[in-house]
Amino acid sequence: MIASQSKKKFSDKILEWHRHHGRYDLPWQKNKDPYLVWISEIMLQQTQVGTVIPFYIKFIDRFRTIVDLAEASEDEVMAYWSGLGFYSRARNLHKTAKIIAVQFSCKFPDSYENLIQLPGIGKSTAGAILSFCYKKKFAILDGNVKRVLSRFFGIQESINLTKTEKHLWDISEQLLPDNDIDIYTQAIMDFGATLCTPKKPQCDSCPINQTCIAKKNNLTGTIPLKNKTKTQADRSTEFYIYECNKQILLVKNRTGVWNGLWLPPQQNSLSKKYIIHKQGERQCVFSHYRLKYKYFLIKITNKKDLMVDGLWFDWKEISDLGLPAPIKSLMINLSN
Ligand code: ADE
Repeated sequence: MIASQSKKKFSDKILEWHRHHGRYDLPWQKNKDPYLVWISEIMLQQTQVGTVIPFYIKFIDRFRTIVDLAEASEDEVMAYWSGLGFYSRARNLHKTAKIIAVQFSCKFPDSYENLIQLPGIGKSTAGAILSFCYKKKFAILDGNVKRVLSRFFGIQESINLTKTEKHLWDISEQLLPDNDIDIYTQAIMDFGATLCTPKKPQCDSCPINQTCIAKKNNLTGTIPLKNKTKTQADRSTEFYIYECNKQILLVKNRTGVWNGLWLPPQQNSLSKKYIIHKQGERQCVFSHYRLKYKYFLIKITNKKDLMVDGLWFDWKEISDLGLPAPIKSLMINLSN
């Protein structure tokens, strides 16, 4: 148990810091509509604020309400997500919009029990939505908050262990203030993102440095401890970019991290002799593995020579389609 005096001090100091140093101009702070907050929280789950902003603005301009999103095609949702990565977030977002439209009559749920059932909404995202939009006293525990709390309390166990995570949730819940929960949630996020940063935290200007165990013991460089996630072996593939009458063939990918996105065929399905006009090799790095791929640009004269279940697109359509960012940029390069 954390003594109530210390809890109050912690949240008071974070709130006071936020008054002077918090971020107030983020686009998702303009409106506490749970739909908009939800979109921003999902985008921010694995992506930095600076990257998210332009995607968020375009996304909510096209999908203004939960109905717009529920009624959109998966293709269009994926196209708007193209470049943000971690595409399961977009697939879940679309699924959840449809569930809310049908099961909740388009009204965003305001209870923890209902929110947590929805695809893509975990404990922390539910906490953020409930505190920001409904001022309900729920905690969050994203990567930033884990770092702040594990440093402040000097937790020297790996933060990706279930036991440590439980401990951190417990602390995060105990520290919640009775008032201004919405401001406090934003404050602790901002504090982690801008002051108690992973590298070079600004301990000298930190309002809680007097009682921070990591600071006291010179441990900010080692806390939070993380178990190394296992890296997987490299993978490899090939992309066959078939062009016919200035159109190219794409197939809807249905597996792996690029599920739901368009890709060029990954096998050669030409039996006839063909000429490779351009070819090369590239790689892209995911969080757990590296994908090495060869690509071949092959110009053909008859679409019927290919027995592939795909669709033909004009080159100029590529930039508006849901393709993985590195494949999109490869294709745009090849089209010039
Ligand atoms: N990261 C996650 N949620 C955020 C928010 N609302 N503002 C800034 N960064 C965030």
